[in-house]
Amino acid sequence: MNVYDSEKIAVVLRPLGYELTRNVDAADLIIVNTCAIRAKAEQKAFSFLGRMAKMKRKRPNLIIGMGGCVAQQEGWKIVERMPSVDFVFGTHVIDRLPDMVARIEQKRCHLVDVKMSPGIDEYDSIADTGANRDVCRFITIMQGCDNYCTYCVVPYVRGRETSRKPEFILSEIRGLIDTGVKEVTLLGQNVNSYGQKEGLCSFAELLEKVNVLEGLERIRFTTSHPKDLSMDLMLAFQDLNKLCRHIHLPVQSGANTVLKRMNRKYTRESYLEKIEKLRQVCPTIAISSDFIAGFPGETETEFLETLDLIKTVEYDSLFAFVYSDRPNAPAAHFGDKISEAEKKARLQVLLTVQEQLTLKKNQSMVGSNQVVLVEGLSRKQPGRLKPDTQPIIQWSGRTEGNKIVNFNWTEDREIAAPDIKTGQLVDVRIKRALSHSLLGELIETQTATAGLKGDKSYAA
Ligand code: 5AD
Ligand code: SF4
Repeated sequence: MNVYDSEKIAVVLRPLGYELTRNVDAADLIIVNTCAIRAKAEQKAFSFLGRMAKMKRKRPNLIIGMGGCVAQQEGWKIVERMPSVDFVFGTHVIDRLPDMVARIEQKRCHLVDVKMSPGIDEYDSIADTGANRDVCRFITIMQGCDNYCTYCVVPYVRGRETSRKPEFILSEIRGLIDTGVKEVTLLGQNVNSYGQKEGLCSFAELLEKVNVLEGLERIRFTTSHPKDLSMDLMLAFQDLNKLCRHIHLPVQSGANTVLKRMNRKYTRESYLEKIEKLRQVCPTIAISSDFIAGFPGETETEFLETLDLIKTVEYDSLFAFVYSDRPNAPAAHFGDKISEAEKKARLQVLLTVQEQLTLKKNQSMVGSNQVVLVEGLSRKQPGRLKPDTQPIIQWSGRTEGNKIVNFNWTEDREIAAPDIKTGQLVDVRIKRALSHSLLGELIETQTATAGLKGDKSYAA
C-alpha cells in the first residue's frame, strides 16, 4: 500500500518540477513514507530521518517531509522531536501535497496535515504518468479497516474501511495497461469485504470486471481476512482465467485462545475448513500466510498449536513477525508480555519449520512446466560457462503461485536464445529448487496467454 502511495506522491509532485531520483544526496526534496504496522518499521523511518537531518545541516535548502501511518499517528510531535522535518502529512491527504510543498518552498515554515476524510476519493484524480516502467503494479481498491484486531494499529492510522468505486479502479487499471502493465495486484486490508458498506459490487464481481480488461495478463490481490473469505471468491479461482491461483490468508496464530485474544473472529477449525474448501475448488492453489510470534500471554502450548497448524496446512510461504506493542492497539495494555529473547526464539523455530516446507514444495515442482511472467533480467547473471562462449543471459519472473523463477536458455542448444521481453509470458521447465526461488530453463515463449492456467495439470 505504501508503494502505491509513494507512486501517487511522485505523480502529484511532478507539476511542481520534481522528478524521482535514486540519489538521495542529490535530492532537493526527501519524503519518507512511513509504515506503523510494527515497531521495527517505525524505528527504521526515524533512523533514516536522523541521517537526513544531518544532511540538512550541510544543505539547509533541503526540504524534508514525512508521510504515511507514523506521520498520521504522531502529527506535530514529529516536528517537535525533529525540527529538520519541514512537513508531515497523513494517510488521507496525498492530493493536497502539492499545496503543502509549494507553501514550504515559498515560506519555509513547518506544516502538518493529518486530517482524515471519510471517503477515499483522494486517489481518483491522480492519473498515472507512465514514468514507472514496471510490468507488475499495485492498485489500492480500499483503505482503512473496521476489524480492530487487538494488536493492530491500522484502524487508527488508516481510518474506517472505505472502498473505491469500481469505475475509478477500472479506469486506473486501463491507464496502467496502456503504459505496458501486465499484472495488477488489488490492495486492501481486507479485500473480501470490498464494496459491502457502500453497496458497491462484491469483490468477486470486481474481479470479474478486471478479468475482462484487454491487454491485462494477470490479477493478484491481497489481503484477505479469513472470516470473510466467501464461496464466490473461492470460485473465482476456478472461473477467472487471469486470476493467479494464489491466496494470502493471514491466520496469525494456530491457537483458538490466542485468536480470541487477538479478536480475529474465526477459529482454527473454521480456518482449516476454508483451506480445505479452497483446495477442493482449486487443487493447485498456492497459499501463504502471516504469523505473529509471542503475542502477549502466548504459552508454549499455544505456540506449539501454531507450529502444528503450519505443518497441517503446508503453506507455500509465510511471513512471520515478533509481536510489538503499537500505540492505541489494545494488546499494548495486555499483561503477560513475552520477553524479546523468547519472541525471537519462537520466530526462529517458526521460520525454520516453514523453510523446510517451502523447500519441499519447491522440490515438488522440479520437472514441471510453469508459465512465468518475465519481470526483467535476473539480478545474478550466471556469466560465461566456458571462455570464448557467449555469456548466458538469465531472466527473472514469477509463477502464478508467486514463486520467483530465474531461468535461461539451455546452454547446450545451438540455436540462439529468443529475444525475451519484460512483460512476456513464457513457459519454463523447473530444473532446481532453492529455498527462496526456483531455477529453470526456457521452453518456449507464448503469444496467446489468457486462459492458460499455470502448470498444465490443472483440473478443477
Ligand atoms: N506486532 C507484530 N506483527 C504485527 N502485524 C500487525 N500488527 C503487528 C504487531 N503489533 C503483522 C500481522 C499482519 C502483518 C501485516 O503484520 O501478521 O498480518
Ligand atoms: Fe489490522 Fe486486523 Fe484490519 Fe488486518 S484485519 S488491518 S490485522 S485490524
